Amino acid sequence: MSVSIVTIDGPVASGKGTVARQVAEALGFHLLDSGAIYRAHALACLSRKIDFNEISSLERQAKALSLKFLGESIWLDGVEATAEVRSEAVGMAASTLSAIPQVRAALLQRQRDFAVAPGLVADGRDMGTIVFPSAPLKIYLTATAQVRAERRAGQIAKQRLAAGESLSAKQLIEKGKPPTIEGLLETIRAQIQPDVEAQIRRRDSQDKSRTIAPLKPALDAIVIDNAEHSPSETVAVVLSLWKLRLK
Ligand code: DC
Repeated sequence: MSVSIVTIDGPVASGKGTVARQVAEALGFHLLDSGAIYRAHALACLSRKIDFNEISSLERQAKALSLKFLGESIWLDGVEATAEVRSEAVGMAASTLSAIPQVRAALLQRQRDFAVAPGLVADGRDMGTIVFPSAPLKIYLTATAQVRAERRAGQIAKQRLAAGESLSAKQLIEKGKPPTIEGLLETIRAQIQPDVEAQIRRRDSQDKSRTIAPLKPALDAIVIDNAEHSPSETVAVVLSLWKLRLK
């Protein structure tokens, strides 16, 4: 049985992770979050204090990476490490280390091994260009850095509020307003938006300018600017395109 593959590439915070997961669920396909592999490698190198100039040590660590995905949780060296793997600091380190050809080469087959029946939805930067160049459907999701920063800052604000951020509540009370959840979220979001946007622009520039497997749409990719779309609208578009491909 041949394996059907849908690739979903795009820059940081373009919504590709959410869209890829929902498309995979709808089609009953496996899911590859290739960014998580680069992130896990970066975290392993940081934990072991490997010098980022020591190419052979970085390569050895990539080959020896002990990584498991269990549902949405990520296990590194037998320990649950989802939150650390998903942190912005680890994302930035992954962006730096993923520009090294030996690291990419060492992680390539591990990604291709996810292509098993009945099919795979693969999310990343080079899924359509390098890892699965003959995939029958290639999507490139994008939106401006400002729109992506607003989304990402909104997510971080929710996480911080859930983790008990109290400073903004105090500020709101001092202004004489009752602190509503929406008000708190908006206060935190507005505070962090400039930093988040600056980080996104740095990561975009690093991912696009590297010489090996730079972030760009494959020549046969369908580019979707999802600034005005909810994730479920984008998922519906991808599923319609998949049905058309099957015909
Ligand atoms: O998608 P993400 O933010 O989890 O990815 C983290 C970094 O990993 C990203 O900035 C660049 C690198 N990456 C890559 O080079 N190739 C991929 N296919 C996926 C991620």
